Amino acid sequence: MCKAHKVAVLPGDGIGPEIMDAALKVLTAAGRKEGETFEFKHALIGGAAIDATGNPLPEETLDICKASDSVLLAAIGGYKWDTLPAAQRPERGLLGLRAGLNAFANLRPAIVPRQLADSSPLKKEIVEGVDILIVRELVGGIYFGQPRGFGTNEKGDRIGFNTDVYSEPEVERIARVAFEAAQKRQKRLCSVEKSNVLEVSQLWKEVVIRVAKDYPDVELSHMYIDNAAMQLLRNPKYFDVVVTGNIFGDILSDEASMLAGSLGMLPSASISGSGPGIFEPVHGSAPDIAGQDLANPMAMVMSAAMMCRYDLKIPKVADRLEAAVDQALDQGLRTKDLWKEGTTLVKCSELGNKLVELV
Ligand SMILES: NC(=O)c1ccc[n+]([C@@H]2O[C@H](COP(=O)([O-])OP(=O)(O)OC[C@H]3O[C@@H](n4cnc5c(N)ncnc54)[C@H](O)[C@@H]3O)[C@@H](O)[C@H]2O)c1
Repeated sequence: MCKAHKVAVLPGDGIGPEIMDAALKVLTAAGRKEGETFEFKHALIGGAAIDATGNPLPEETLDICKASDSVLLAAIGGYKWDTLPAAQRPERGLLGLRAGLNAFANLRPAIVPRQLADSSPLKKEIVEGVDILIVRELVGGIYFGQPRGFGTNEKGDRIGFNTDVYSEPEVERIARVAFEAAQKRQKRLCSVEKSNVLEVSQLWKEVVIRVAKDYPDVELSHMYIDNAAMQLLRNPKYFDVVVTGNIFGDILSDEASMLAGSLGMLPSASISGSGPGIFEPVHGSAPDIAGQDLANPMAMVMSAAMMCRYDLKIPKVADRLEAAVDQALDQGLRTKDLWKEGTTLVKCSELGNKLVELV
């Protein structure tokens, strides 16, 4: 038997522990079928860490993550911590973790499973077959090369400095991740920015065009963010890989999640190119349904699948996890977020157990 894969497990807040519990069972079962084992090390992050230690990212958590092969994270945040000052909020834990692991690229697949094409608020013929990979820069918006925080203008009015600011090497680095991803897919890359208004976007576009020369097999197009937000609803099948900045990517990927009808279906990976990546669902901690066994664990299971593919290099385990989700959908099993007449309503834990049988 191979050495156990060391995985840092960060359940976080809200529905986090429920979906993590389900995903770990499914991952363990899929690994067993392929002769792979895991050593899970649990650690605190977000609100749970604030309650226990006063810090959303305790040093011990970062140390555990750095010493692991990969990091599996559920979600952070909740009403209880919403009134804390920005620097002490659960989100700081997540931002600190990404920075601590130098995770600069966020990969967000937005795939509409054929079984869910009619769960989308959009028409079936528009969403059926959608398969987009959004590559989002994660550093801009966290480390602003510019002054950050609040100041005053010449009239004494309060102003805030916050925008995505990138250096040329940062744009080049994310562009390369996106071109390489496109090479493994349909070889079409759309760079999304706002270069008609923002200087940072002019720099972005210039660098992306320069990097494109190294990837002549990839067809590059450019789109302003406002148009991209519209095209994503009008003709989502136009997109193969999208590369964009932190804030534009945040908004576009939430919009893309609705193509599949629920946030509960979408995984993501935050990677640095060296060292452990962070694998987590796109959705948050869903405090409105937390503790009721109502959450959809599929995005968490698919995040574990991405971890197996990208970090742990055990693609057969990833295939098993993805196939199990596909079969559960085929069998009509749906958590509350996706349930409709003619399908079978299941709890989070029930779906987890079913997936264990299916891997
Ligand atoms: N990466 C993260 O950990 C992350 C991301 C986004 C938001 N948040 C935090 O989460 C908290 C709630 O934020 P929000 O309500 O804007 O976003 P959210 O993603 O938590 O929830 C939005 C809606 O989607 C539903 N939903 C989300 N995931 C689901 C799942 N797996 N199954 C079924 N339904 C699901 C929720 O019930 C809610 O109605 C906030 O504290 C926010 O800061 C964390």
